[in-house]
Amino acid sequence: MQINIDAERIVADLEKLATFSDTESPVITRIVYSESDQRARAWLKEQCVSAGLAMREDPLGNMFARWQGTDADAGAVGTGSHIDAIPHSGRFDGTVGVLGALESVRALQRSGFKPHRSIELLVFISEEPTRFGIGCLGSRMLSGALTPEKAAALKDRQDQPLSHFTGPLSRVQLPPQYYHSFVELHIEQGPILEKENIPIGIVTNIAAPAAMRIIIEGEGGHAGTVLMPERRDAFLGAAEIALAVEAAAKATGAIDTVGTCGLVDVFPGLANSIPSRVKLELDIRDTVATRRDAVLQEIDRKCRDISVKRKLRIDSTILHADDPAGCDPTVVTALVRACDAEGLAYWRMVSRAYHDSLFMSRIAPTAMLFIPCRGGVSHRPDEYAAPRDLANGARVLARTLAALAS
Ligand code: GLV
Ligand code: MN
Ligand code: MN
Repeated sequence: MQINIDAERIVADLEKLATFSDTESPVITRIVYSESDQRARAWLKEQCVSAGLAMREDPLGNMFARWQGTDADAGAVGTGSHIDAIPHSGRFDGTVGVLGALESVRALQRSGFKPHRSIELLVFISEEPTRFGIGCLGSRMLSGALTPEKAAALKDRQDQPLSHFTGPLSRVQLPPQYYHSFVELHIEQGPILEKENIPIGIVTNIAAPAAMRIIIEGEGGHAGTVLMPERRDAFLGAAEIALAVEAAAKATGAIDTVGTCGLVDVFPGLANSIPSRVKLELDIRDTVATRRDAVLQEIDRKCRDISVKRKLRIDSTILHADDPAGCDPTVVTALVRACDAEGLAYWRMVSRAYHDSLFMSRIAPTAMLFIPCRGGVSHRPDEYAAPRDLANGARVLARTLAALAS
């Protein structure tokens, strides 16, 4: 079977999607449920309908676009990713796995292929933690990892509850065996494929992510009149915690342990006012969950020390601490065969970023494929994937979907 991917179409679709943003392209900001996000989703729906796919949306906003197979009762072969984008990011994260997959489906249709199992494009809602502080909201609920009760209790950055759903959240979790298999295409977000000149990465496992929120409370006051020995500066406690995060991540001695203190919210946030309250959000990951958990505990211990030393009130909450995922050997083999058939070299690799596949792997045999991105850059406006790589990814995906759906 010859699969002809229209690379220009993928590039044009990515360009169009990039216009739905709160910041001007190439700087992308598309926070879930924002107006930009809603407009992007409406446009995407039209594209799926134009491809002859049957659309449905669940109460949370996960979108499903189905190419009906000849056996309508058989578990479907799923593919997809997300289109929400963190503030000041690029146009390829997640979107490649949606628009690339859509082109894979169109290419299979053009080839005359008829799927036995349905092939379904899934556009996950809220993969990024920007709004609710917790990543993979859509796939968490689809897989049952997050209960409707816990989801309903989530608050966003403005302290508003999750209120955009259109029906009971109890309807979001997918029934058992809904998917026969699931494959997600994504940019690597790391430098290996480009550096080694390898066009395809086949993911064997996904690292275990965790996030922690820490609230530090001290005493505010006048920056000129409160003398240094009297101060209980919440930001100085936060600064010590940030350094403790770096130290704890490095202390494992494992290159796979990473820790980031990426959100620092200082109140009242004025140069001449001593910070009275700081919110920190930390991101800690490792390929080994027990090692990651030991880092979380070490940070907690440090918080207690800093609290005593600086007379601050410090409260920490673990927002999530997820298990790592292993990819399914059968789906990995289908990806290997597709690369071989296309004459494309591949490497097996770990995903250090998380993806909705982390949760899909709990309910379906799942694997991922990566394409190179320039300089390994992601979560930045200069994120870039070349048309040839986009086409390679879509072609391998199409062949894999065809094999799994046959
Ligand atoms: C996904 O965006 C991640 O942070 O890994
Ligand atoms: Mn991302
Ligand atoms: Mn992503």
